[in-house]
Amino acid sequence: MNDLIKRAAEDLVQSEHAIALTGAGMSTESGIPDFRGPDGIWTQDPEAEKKAYEAYEMFKINPRKFWEERIDPDSAMRRMFEMFGELNKVLPNPGHFALAELEKTGVLKSVLTQNVDGLHTKAGNTNVVEYHGVINKFRCIKCANRFTPDEIDLDNLSAKSNLPPLCECSGIIKDDGVFFGEPIPEDVRNKSEEEALKCDLMLICGTSAVVYPFADLPTLAKFGISRFRTSYSGEPRQKVTIIEVNAESTPLTGTISDYLIQGKTGELLPRIVEEVRKIL
Ligand code: APR
Repeated sequence: MNDLIKRAAEDLVQSEHAIALTGAGMSTESGIPDFRGPDGIWTQDPEAEKKAYEAYEMFKINPRKFWEERIDPDSAMRRMFEMFGELNKVLPNPGHFALAELEKTGVLKSVLTQNVDGLHTKAGNTNVVEYHGVINKFRCIKCANRFTPDEIDLDNLSAKSNLPPLCECSGIIKDDGVFFGEPIPEDVRNKSEEEALKCDLMLICGTSAVVYPFADLPTLAKFGISRFRTSYSGEPRQKVTIIEVNAESTPLTGTISDYLIQGKTGELLPRIVEEVRKIL
C-alpha cells in the first residue's frame, strides 16, 4: 500500500494537469451514505432508486403536478429534498481537505464531482464542476440560469396559481440536482469534457463508476472518444495516468485505470498529499 501511495504522489508531482473525479464515497466519512456501497441508499432501498428513475419522467409529463408534490409538506418528495437539504450542516472530511490541499500545492487543477453536497467547495477547492448539480439550488431547464433558495421561495409557491415556477426566459425551473435520464446541463458537461481531454492524470475517488455519462470521462481522457461523444479530434492522445482511490474495485479497475489504491479516501488521500508535500 505504501508503494502505491508513493507512486501516486510521484505521478501527481510529475503531471502537468491533474484532475480529480469524485463520487459519493468521498462523503461517507462525513456521515452521508453513498448509493451502492454496502450501506448505500439504493442498496438499502431499491424502491427509492426506482422512484428516483421515475422523477424526471414525471417532471417532463406534468411539471405542474411535479411541483405540487415538490412543495407539498406532507409528500415523500418534499421530505426527500428536505433530507438532502440537511446536507448544508454536514462538514467536509480529511479526504475533502486533502484535495483542497492538493489544489493549493498547484498540482490539482480541478475537481469534477457527482456529489450534490457542496463539500469540496466547503473544504476549499475553488475549481469544482458539480456534474449532477448541487442541492438547495434551482435551475432553468431552458437557459440553465441558476437560482439560490431565497430566489425561489417554496412557501410562496404554495399559491398553486404560479406552478411550475418560470424563468424570465419562460423556461421551467426545477431543482439543480440532475435526475436520472435528465441531460447534464451543457455548461457543466462541456467544462467536464474539456478537463478530461486536457488532463494527463485523473485521480478517481469514491465512485462505483457505473453512472453515465460521468463514468465515461475516464475513457474520454484515455482515448479521446467515448460512447457519448461522436466528435473525435483525431490527434493522438497524450499519455494519461488514471488512479483510483476506492473502497472496492470498479468496472474501471484493470481496464481503464492504471492502478487502484484500495481503502478509505479519508485515510488515503491525506497520506498521498503528505507524500506529494515531501517531493515538492
Ligand atoms: N472511501 C473510499 N471509497 C468509498 C468510501 C470511502 N470512505 N465509502 C464508499 N466508497 C465507495 C463504495 O464502495 C462505492 O464503490 O465509493 C463508491 C460509491 O459508489 P456509489 O454509491 O455508486 O456512488 P457514486 O458512484 O457517486 O454514484 C453515482 O449515482 O445515484 C446516482 O446521482 C447519484 O451521483 C450519484 C451517481
